[in-house]
Amino acid sequence: MPELIYQSGFGNEFATEAQPGALPVGQNAPQRNAYGLYAEQVSGSAFTAPRGLNRRTWMYRIRPSVVHEPYQPFATQTLLRSGLFEELPTPPNQMRWNPPDFPSATDFVEGITTLGGNGDPANQDGVGIHLYTATSSMSARFFYNADGEMLILPQQGGLRFVTECGILEVKPGELIVIPRGIKFRVDLLDEKARGYICENYGQPFRLPELGPIGANGLANSRDFLTPVAAFEDGEGECEVVSKFLGRLWSAKFNHSPIDVVAWHGNYAPYKYDMARFNCINTVSFDHPDPSIFTVLTAPSHLHGIANVDFVIFPPRWLVAEHTFRPPWFHRNMMNEFMGLIYGEYDAKAEGFLPGGASLHNCMSGHGPDAETFARASAADLKPQHIKDSLAFMFETRMVVRPTRFALETKILQHEYYECWQGLKRLYPGVEADKR
Ligand SMILES: [Fe+2]
Repeated sequence: MPELIYQSGFGNEFATEAQPGALPVGQNAPQRNAYGLYAEQVSGSAFTAPRGLNRRTWMYRIRPSVVHEPYQPFATQTLLRSGLFEELPTPPNQMRWNPPDFPSATDFVEGITTLGGNGDPANQDGVGIHLYTATSSMSARFFYNADGEMLILPQQGGLRFVTECGILEVKPGELIVIPRGIKFRVDLLDEKARGYICENYGQPFRLPELGPIGANGLANSRDFLTPVAAFEDGEGECEVVSKFLGRLWSAKFNHSPIDVVAWHGNYAPYKYDMARFNCINTVSFDHPDPSIFTVLTAPSHLHGIANVDFVIFPPRWLVAEHTFRPPWFHRNMMNEFMGLIYGEYDAKAEGFLPGGASLHNCMSGHGPDAETFARASAADLKPQHIKDSLAFMFETRMVVRPTRFALETKILQHEYYECWQGLKRLYPGVEADKR
């Protein structure tokens, strides 16, 4: 496979063709297209969305997307679930899960296991939160999601996404976002793959405003990469699986749907290497709220309140003086789902494992475990380098309701609450603390 070529920038008006002259010049829908291609527009927003939020791409393809047999319910039983997430009552408990095992011979679609979510794809509001495991490539199967865009975080194993807009490869430490409706196939670059998915039913992810930070910093636009056009001229039978209104459906195609020879527009998959994230944090005391680590945000209809924020805790220096440096104890109106790509998270010395997850829902107390609290309260506050660690959070407006799987699986850590039980009463303090 030759080295992949990408176009740089976030939400740009990209233009790319895999054969010279395949893109029309000066118009979108000529009477006849070059090479006998069909023109098809895919709209990722209402036609009338304001210019800054308008998303659409024009594709020039061997066949239009409408050429397929009717969709039928997908025959394979999977652990994929979707809003309204009403399988079981949601307890207010803090929850944590070990990493999932690898079942044999599952591809990316079959291996999606939902831990929870909120909202409803029918209302285009809320999220689905999933783990995925895969031990085989998708080969003659393709997937698209009409319910939302998918932010995918590999935790183990590299993945090649062969999409209508071109090919992207991602490895642990990178993220990829596949917009709503864009078809793709996932090929494994290693023997097995595992990771996390945030399925965003709401408005698409965008870069957060920077306010007083200024014109640069956090995730910079130029570090987001979108593929160049690449197509398959495949005439054999294949299957397209659709997630539509919470369920999976399957249709036969007599050709590969990855047949887009050229495209232009601002609605396309992108990837981002989280090592490029420019961390902003304190150089004096205390630390800012974790929103300072927001990579991408998907707004809700409530001003300033995200449907979901994607936040990371990457390698960085801790230098705060006279400060308790790990994340403080907290209760939050927002709901916090966390995962760990690699390393050790600075609020939890043990039990939060790469590939695992935790959930702290609305107003449920959380914070450093007893051991971390004791260590950080007594630490010598010299500059400390947190390296080889990458945790992340999906912070979402509505309570994350765990699925039946999440509440009944053996990877749920029933003893999680014990990590705080060693936090002993310290009041009224020792003599030296009385100021
Ligand atoms: Fe929190």
